[in-house]
Amino acid sequence: MMSSANFGFTQGDVLLVTGAGSGIGRATALRAAELGLAVSAWDLNPDGLAQTVDQIRAAGGRVHSWVADVSDPDAVAAGFSDAAAAVGSIRFLHNNAGPASSSPLPFDRALQICVTSAHTMTEQWATQLPDSASAMVVTTSVAGNRIGTESDWYSASKAALMGYVRHLAAHRAHEFRSNGVAPGMTDTPRLASFTESEIGQRALARIPLHRLASPDDIAYAVLFLLSPLSAYTNGVFLPVDGGWTVTQ
Ligand SMILES: NC(=O)c1ccc[n+]([C@@H]2O[C@H](COP(=O)([O-])OP(=O)(O)OC[C@H]3O[C@@H](n4cnc5c(N)ncnc54)[C@H](O)[C@@H]3O)[C@@H](O)[C@H]2O)c1
Repeated sequence: MMSSANFGFTQGDVLLVTGAGSGIGRATALRAAELGLAVSAWDLNPDGLAQTVDQIRAAGGRVHSWVADVSDPDAVAAGFSDAAAAVGSIRFLHNNAGPASSSPLPFDRALQICVTSAHTMTEQWATQLPDSASAMVVTTSVAGNRIGTESDWYSASKAALMGYVRHLAAHRAHEFRSNGVAPGMTDTPRLASFTESEIGQRALARIPLHRLASPDDIAYAVLFLLSPLSAYTNGVFLPVDGGWTVTQ
């Protein structure tokens, strides 16, 4: 019988997390390892990635790591080959990596980094699934799906990711389930100085829970959506925002 104590995960199943060198991706990787999953941790920042790997190993977890920019298809293909040799087939995917909304990116390049990369990752991953009890979660955002951001590419790319999730949920469910987790403001390095600003303080005051999300708040939502406990959940947009957007 499936136990809900570890979200119903089978010990040793593999989760690949992109952007695992910091913030939400690191939290998903660490919490997944605690639940008994083997982790393939990917990031373009080798130092941040090494810290995540050290923390998983120190806690007795099993981890493979790959330094890559996920918008580089050759690096993605090489990463899947490396991961296959190290940890075998990968049942779960967390498409999480993405630049900060404040990054001054050209629109087309930003969509390639944020959206095309998730498509490339998902298509490669789908070629090696152990069976259809597999699942993918994308980190989208309340931005784009509920509110607009100052940068044009951020709103556009987060909404596009959810469109892709809906396509996958409708047409690829015989292979895997697909869902989107939508963080509100989350306490990761990219928001470090925001809450000290006047606009940050005003935003905080409007969140019913009066705090930022912790990376773990988001990680546990991701892990639930990946897990067998959500076996009938497919194509959802799950805001994890402390109730912020229902006050707007
Ligand atoms: N922090 C928030 O308030 C918030 C809110 C909504 C959505 N998000 C989304 O959550 C995800 C993670 O953000 P975070 O806050 O944890 O940020 P973070 O900066 O703490 O971590 C992001 C990690 O992704 C890596 N990365 C970035 N681009 C990459 C690429 N092309 N290839 C490989 N690795 C790459 C970075 O090196 C970094 O380690 C992003 O998609 C972000 O848009 C964050």
